[in-house]
Amino acid sequence: MGQFANVAKVGDIGDGDLASFDVAGSQVAVANVGGTFYGFGDVCTHMACSLAAGELEGTTVTCSCHGSQFDVTTGAVRRPPADEPVPSYPVRVQGEDIQVQV
Ligand code: FES
Repeated sequence: MGQFANVAKVGDIGDGDLASFDVAGSQVAVANVGGTFYGFGDVCTHMACSLAAGELEGTTVTCSCHGSQFDVTTGAVRRPPADEPVPSYPVRVQGEDIQVQV
């Protein structure tokens, strides 16, 4: 893992929202679940749609393309057709900055 990189300000991603960022060449999605931020691979392991373009409900993100679901806290698959997890990335808040480690 590399350094933590600033990706956004705390106020930029509201509760229940998703956003995606390029962090050192990796597409990373960040989810705000009740004020806690989680980082995971934005690229769905089914057919590469952006998970940040999907729907977040609790800690589950649903891919907008074919309905695969992933646990945003671990990257684990919760519902097929995807059968491989997405990576999980550490996130921390420093002051007003959301930082992700890839
Ligand atoms: S690309 Fe995500 S479910 Fe198919």
